[in-house]
Amino acid sequence: MTIITLIPGDGIGQEVVPAAARVLEAFALPLTLQYADAGWATFQQGGDALPPSTLALCEASDAILFGATQSPMDKVAGYRSPILALRKRFDLFANLRPARAGDIDLLIVRENTEGLYSGRERVEDDGATAIAERVITRRASERIVRAACEQALLRRHKLTIVHKANVLKETCGLFRRVAFEVTAGYADLEVEEMLVDTAAMRLVQDPARFDVIVTTNLFGDILSDLAAGLTGGLGIAPSANLGIGRPAVFEPVHGSAPDIAGKGIADPRAALLSTAMLLEFLGYRAEAQTLTNACYGIAHMGSTAATTDEIIRILQRMP
Ligand code: IPM
Ligand code: MN
Repeated sequence: MTIITLIPGDGIGQEVVPAAARVLEAFALPLTLQYADAGWATFQQGGDALPPSTLALCEASDAILFGATQSPMDKVAGYRSPILALRKRFDLFANLRPARAGDIDLLIVRENTEGLYSGRERVEDDGATAIAERVITRRASERIVRAACEQALLRRHKLTIVHKANVLKETCGLFRRVAFEVTAGYADLEVEEMLVDTAAMRLVQDPARFDVIVTTNLFGDILSDLAAGLTGGLGIAPSANLGIGRPAVFEPVHGSAPDIAGKGIADPRAALLSTAMLLEFLGYRAEAQTLTNACYGIAHMGSTAATTDEIIRILQRMP
């Protein structure tokens, strides 16, 4: 039996993850769904944002659907972001973030384990200077670029390597060098490089020119929100966090959206598209395709339940 752990988390995660569970149940596949707690509310109750009981359920599962969690801006003793912890625990190095609308169909492949997210921050001069270390390794660069090349082969065979090696000569320099070493082994791909600032501009001016973009952690975080903004917003932006084996973690790119939480109005499509990526990962390709098309085929109807109902109706009309 295939086990899926559902982690609603905070805010609208509590609304969109149950919507995804309804859709999964509608497929009537041999899947066991189990819920687990994580996030800010969980931290406030028990002092741990990702309790050992949740981790144990995740360890025993094939895939995880993660809603959203609220993270404090300031340092809170003992708090760690559950999504960052899950990425680390399962070495989910590849963050796949597709963006589709009209003639735009691109995929950002974001390195997910290092860069400016390495957690190496400190203060000096009694707090008057703050320093973050940006860690780039050959190993992580190699595997993320290889993952991006494999994705490009499944798509339009075009890869854009995004970096800032003109300034960050060591870190981006290493990433860029390794990227070209890896892509040299993919003769069927059209490969180009682009500075991250240029990439931001070109994404706005001519997003349809892009197929697969591969980049480091923070650049990928920023550009994927930009791409989401171009294609209907965060309400429709899904992602997959993939490692070597199982489990993988699937999450809507949007956060907990406290401003609209509890009102039943959150757009469930980002979570449902993430669920489609989860189904694809588990080998249910036809179901994944049908669900993806259903999500892109309708507009959000203003209520989480209504949009979910409509998507389930579309699925049930399918052969
Ligand atoms: C995302 C989010 C996370 C990230 C935060 C919540 C840690 O912004 O998944 O893009 O920056 O990776
Ligand atoms: Mn983000």
